[in-house]
Amino acid sequence: MCGIVGYVGGQQAYPIIVKGLHRLEYRGYDSAGIAITTDKQLNIYKQAGKVSDLEDFVKDKNVKGNIGIGHTRWATHGVPNQLNAHPHKSGDSNLALIHNGIIENYDSLKKALIKRGHVFESETDTEVLVHLIEEIKKNEKVNLFEAVRLALNEVIGAYAILVIDKENNEEIIAARKGSPLVIGIGKGEYFVASDATPIVEYTRNVVYLEDEQIARINKKEALEIKTISNIIKTPYIDELELSLEAIEKEGFEHFMLKEIFEQPKCILDTMRGRINAKTGEITLGGILDYEKKILNAERIIIVACGTSWHAGLIGEYLFEDLARISVEVEYASEFRYRNPIITEKDVVLAISQSGETADTMAALELAKQKGATILGICNVVGSSIPRLTDAGSYTHAGPEIGVASTKAFTTQVVVLTLMALRIAKEKGTLTNTEYRQIITELELIPKKVEKVLELDDLIKEIAAEFKDATNFLYLGRGYNFPVALEGALKLKEISYIHAEGYPAAEMKHGPIALIDEHMPIVVLATRKGNYEKVVSNIQEVKARGGRLIAIVTEGDKTVKELADYCIEIPACFEELMPLLSIIPLQLLSYHIAVMRNCNVDQPRNLAKSVTVE
Ligand code: G6P
Repeated sequence: MCGIVGYVGGQQAYPIIVKGLHRLEYRGYDSAGIAITTDKQLNIYKQAGKVSDLEDFVKDKNVKGNIGIGHTRWATHGVPNQLNAHPHKSGDSNLALIHNGIIENYDSLKKALIKRGHVFESETDTEVLVHLIEEIKKNEKVNLFEAVRLALNEVIGAYAILVIDKENNEEIIAARKGSPLVIGIGKGEYFVASDATPIVEYTRNVVYLEDEQIARINKKEALEIKTISNIIKTPYIDELELSLEAIEKEGFEHFMLKEIFEQPKCILDTMRGRINAKTGEITLGGILDYEKKILNAERIIIVACGTSWHAGLIGEYLFEDLARISVEVEYASEFRYRNPIITEKDVVLAISQSGETADTMAALELAKQKGATILGICNVVGSSIPRLTDAGSYTHAGPEIGVASTKAFTTQVVVLTLMALRIAKEKGTLTNTEYRQIITELELIPKKVEKVLELDDLIKEIAAEFKDATNFLYLGRGYNFPVALEGALKLKEISYIHAEGYPAAEMKHGPIALIDEHMPIVVLATRKGNYEKVVSNIQEVKARGGRLIAIVTEGDKTVKELADYCIEIPACFEELMPLLSIIPLQLLSYHIAVMRNCNVDQPRNLAKSVTVE
């Protein structure tokens, strides 16, 4: 993670970089720093905390200059203090470098550099890299571009880096491997950042740097790109489709709330153009060529992390239930290290909002090596996973900025539903009538989500009642079980209340011991599925004095009599219920977090995009 921004051109660099850092703060907010050069003078300012702390710090400092780089950090090596904050400088204080990623062999490089007389100020792996570049530049008598290239040949690990030299106020050197980097091309100016959000208001012409590529970004010259093995590449200029509104709060108090309320629209966008209104035919253009592979797959292995893993669990129910294909859902971080059995007949499907999660990428790479077909469901267009996979489908949810994932989750579930339905139709595991009924129901989901969102005031009242609880239990069965896991994760992430999600029936094998009159229990008890069985589980909770918040189907009477609070959501098919039942849980955790004065959009210790393992 970590966010990086750079600017070189005719404008003042500082305001552009700070604005960019605010946009990238979702990637990490342990510390922030900036390096600006002017008249062969290098000014570096850094501060523990958020970008706003950096802004306060530099108020009376000289930030003048037309070239600079900035960084917002999610700490990996070294505590998040001022010393470990980026940028880091070379021993002679000529070079400044920012880095997103991990240099795995930094320890051996550092020891060797210390032996050769280098002195380090921080505990970071990044500082090692800038010293290495400095040494190569001096010893080999090469320019910065070449020195960076040679240094990267000695590095094992992942990186997106920007380097500037106070002797050259016209040039930034950028390189990437495993962490994203986008270069925006303006007139006589360049912007470079971890994603396109800091760039979008200045130019729509961008170049996505590829892995192991290094760029010389000189304001007076055309962009020059080569690989770290010294092969020259012609830059491919893409046009940005991102809109400025999509990355602003538009009147909402937090990005997370905006993103929760955007879900009806996002779900529509995910389905747009993929369901033929007349025939009900589903077309997922991105995987068309690989449909046969999926149809004939012996199993589908879904790899993901966090919320995307929960979406994967719903995918398991959908593919097995509708398309009768066996599915395994794996934490990418476990899968990649446990010598999994993968064959050419397997389809490995990665789910990732960011398309950059290091463990998910590594799991895919492993599956690729073993000959499996690799597919992806991602939100960020042009990110690393879509580039790596054989084929895939975008969720089209638009930028998700709140660290706790909401609209990414529901749109991932929509894509999984479309995939499962398409395969079911091809395989004939659903009758035509069943297929058409589910499609009709799916098309009604955006309107039904809108109805659930109307319950916001009621959910706020419930939040006020439970905001001081120290533990929560979330229970669900069948399709609602992954929803219970996701609801608990949302609460943990943003309100710091301990919460566990459990299959409702499994509760009696342990968590039931936790239940007393202080324990709130959120139960997903919507109609169909295992409703009667969930009602029995509710009775078990009630008998032990637990305080019940139930998510039920409109008109429910049985659970209403048992629960302390009921949230009634519209009826829908069991297979699609997660798309509705997750909404009250997102709102509940949002309101509890706000009432506890937590930083909803940037919860402590977390980052949106985890590009380290
Ligand atoms: C981080 C984020 C989560 C996200 C997970 C996986 O932990 O904070 O919200 O679910 O990474 O990210 P991905 O981008 O792969 O979906």
